[in-house]
Amino acid sequence: MSDLPEGVQWRQFGGRQRLATRGDPVYGEPVDAEGWRVWDTNRSKVGALLETHGDPGFEPDSGVLYLGAATGTTVSHLADMGLLVYAVELSAYAADALLEVSRSRPRLFPIIADARHPARYAGTVEADLSWLIQDVASAEQAQIATANRRFLADDGMSMIFIKARSIDATASPSTVFADVEAELTDTYEITARVSMDTTHEDHRAIIAKVR
Ligand SMILES: C[S@@+](CC[C@H](N)C(=O)[O-])C[C@H]1O[C@@H](n2cnc3c(N)ncnc32)[C@H](O)[C@@H]1O
Repeated sequence: MSDLPEGVQWRQFGGRQRLATRGDPVYGEPVDAEGWRVWDTNRSKVGALLETHGDPGFEPDSGVLYLGAATGTTVSHLADMGLLVYAVELSAYAADALLEVSRSRPRLFPIIADARHPARYAGTVEADLSWLIQDVASAEQAQIATANRRFLADDGMSMIFIKARSIDATASPSTVFADVEAELTDTYEITARVSMDTTHEDHRAIIAKVR
């Protein structure tokens, strides 16, 4: 990983350099005179990963399946970058906000569905996507990543944020991470592991390519 992907810049806000994309504000983040808005890396694991590790390999027109979109914080920035984003979210509570965020973003497609059942949105999501990004607060994180591999191209990549406590709040995070990785290994080859502890406690990011 290196540099920043197209559509993301370091900009000055309040006397310090912060990550920013250009688009309508979504969650009360500061916007500069040229329309660049802060990408708050405390609220976005993808933002935090870009800030510390640079570009994971996003191409300007990459197609992304994003699982666990919540109210649209992270997917709004990805769509601002020009990526085509299918944003799956289970919670009806988050749906209104996610739909609102997508209104000014023609390349952001909200899908209110359960990522454990990809067949239910297979007719909506295009095939051969470049990226699967997963940030679901679920006990079934490995199974979800495996079941959604079907949308990726054979050279597709995944970025999976493992939230240890959603899987087992009593086990040590390192044990949980190892178990998840073992479950993923038939489907994905892990190329990088990143601790997210500075911004998101007991989370690990995995970058993996399709086997
Ligand atoms: C940590 S939040 C995601 C935050 C979001 N990725 C962001 O950066 O803006 C986890 C989300 O996963 C969603 N979720 C949990 N289980 C899910 C499932 N089976 N299918 C789709 N979404 C799910 C939750 O409703 C919640 O909104």
